Amino acid sequence: MSRFKAFLFDLDGVICDTAKYHYLAWKRLADMLGIPFDEKANEAFKGVSRMRCMELLLEFGNRTADDEEKVRLADMKNEWYVEYLHDLDRSELLPGALEVLEECRRRGIKTAICSASKNAPLILSRLEITDYFDAVIDGNKVTKAKPDPEVFLLGAKELGVEPAECVIFEDSLAGVQAGISENIFVVGIGKPENLPGADIVVENLSYLDVDSLLKA
Ligand code: BG6
Ligand code: MG
Repeated sequence: MSRFKAFLFDLDGVICDTAKYHYLAWKRLADMLGIPFDEKANEAFKGVSRMRCMELLLEFGNRTADDEEKVRLADMKNEWYVEYLHDLDRSELLPGALEVLEECRRRGIKTAICSASKNAPLILSRLEITDYFDAVIDGNKVTKAKPDPEVFLLGAKELGVEPAECVIFEDSLAGVQAGISENIFVVGIGKPENLPGADIVVENLSYLDVDSLLKA
């Protein structure tokens, strides 16, 4: 018997290739505001809430804005992002994602989405994968952004398991840090140099060996 009973998946950059659309929308806003922004700077935006990203962008540009202006700009970014999602379909699932979700169903491993995104339900529905998850914890349900572990603790709670019985799948440093802070096993998705502290790192879920993971 494995000590792991549930898998907690981040969405953007783990299950589907939507992280690139977040980047494109922030880049468009940064260009509009004349703030330098590139993929390296974008690493800090991964996993964190929309408003925190907005503040980070203003900090990068040594700018300030009142709350109303921040909301206006973040809304603009979100409108562009949602436009980019318009044609989203299963071709945007990342390699191995569907296979791992199917394997969870076969083996009786519980599954949750634990994402900072308020667009998570829309994305799951466009990808037609909502039914693969026993719980969806998204940016509408949490009050504290990663690296706070709230989203993962809520995921474990909704699934009726202990955090120690979970594995987190994350492409963001903030998400990896959230897992570490609660001693939850973390599988990093991406490049090891971007995800220090993850228990293992794979390029994408197609490289995941579920058998060996369950023995870890
Ligand atoms: C996370 C992304 O999944 O969701 C972040 O990694 C993003 O980059 C966050 O800022 C919030 O997303 P949304 O869709 O609510 O703006
Ligand atoms: Mg992510």
